[in-house]
Amino acid sequence: MQDESAIVYLDNAATSFPKPEQVYQKYDEVARHCCANPGRGGHRLAQRAAQHVLNARLAVARLFNISDCARVVFTANATEAINMALFGLLQPGDEVVTTTMEHNAVARPLFALQQRGVRVIKVAADSTGRVSAAAVRDACGRATKLVVMNHCSNVTGTLQPVAEVGPWCRDNGVFFMVDAAQSAGVFAIDVQQMAIDLLAAPGHKGLFGPQGSGFLYVAPSLELQPLIYGGTGTHSSSLEQPQELPERLESGTLNTPALAALTAGVEFVTQTGVERVCRHEQALVRQLRNALAAIPQIQMFGPKQVEGAVLSFVVRQRDSAEIAFLLDHHYNIAVRPGLHCSGDAHRSIGTFPHGTVRVSPGYFNTSADIDCLSRALTEIVRGTT
Ligand code: ALA
Repeated sequence: MQDESAIVYLDNAATSFPKPEQVYQKYDEVARHCCANPGRGGHRLAQRAAQHVLNARLAVARLFNISDCARVVFTANATEAINMALFGLLQPGDEVVTTTMEHNAVARPLFALQQRGVRVIKVAADSTGRVSAAAVRDACGRATKLVVMNHCSNVTGTLQPVAEVGPWCRDNGVFFMVDAAQSAGVFAIDVQQMAIDLLAAPGHKGLFGPQGSGFLYVAPSLELQPLIYGGTGTHSSSLEQPQELPERLESGTLNTPALAALTAGVEFVTQTGVERVCRHEQALVRQLRNALAAIPQIQMFGPKQVEGAVLSFVVRQRDSAEIAFLLDHHYNIAVRPGLHCSGDAHRSIGTFPHGTVRVSPGYFNTSADIDCLSRALTEIVRGTT
């Protein structure tokens, strides 16, 4: 087996690794000692499991300034949260405005909805991956029901102007949804100040929770049709899905150990401070940009001033999969090549269909990791690998 302690892991945009120690401890403790079914049965162990779930709801609500934690709906990942929101809200005949920088988690459900008669308008990004707030506003018409966009690109790290778009949407009677897959835990998000009606995020990236955790925040102004119907532990005599949140959207047994561990991850973020996490990750990307600028065969993409902790590049005349393979097999460095499930974003920045090599440092990476990657790339480019 590969010794993971020897790996330089630079694929945190896919999932953060490692997690803070307390996340592993909490997962183990709850899975081992308290993994009854939360909200099902009144025995003490079930009550303790339910308390873990409630703690996770409260922790998430605090971090994003959500005033009612019952409006935090837990899901298996951000993709499920996004599907829940889009299919729960949009009907044939509705119009939705989105961007060309979206991950397939947004682009594919919207495409499926388009086939069912939803009108989808995509606002084009510039070559650095940026979409202007004015272009989003201009794309909205009288029929627009929803604007959905990501906060931070998983391909370029470009931040979108969500703090400008949200309040405009609120003033103009348009719902506003943010895919925070790359920003939750790394950039401050305040759903009230940013006027976000729907916020989807994974638990396993910047919030340091385990895989299998994610959530959707649903603003009080909104009612979604459930994506999944079933047992909620409440109103069991009725065949109708309950009206109340979170139960209405949370059928089936939750992932209690993952949610308890997510609480530990969110607490780690809160104690460390989002700004500190962000500064550290940005410094690593800046260091990498500076190092790669000295290698003429490398072309970098995204904003020149570092934003999100992602750097995409290509080595001219070389396949990104080959570069990632060499980094992995010869240098023990983990990065992600290709299209990153975001074909539209690569079209926007001119790297479709071959994609890029994507480096995404996390809070536990060090400057030495970036040096190691820079040295490896220098050798690969020279052909001395
Ligand atoms: N969305 C994740 C990524 O960008 C998996 O790699």
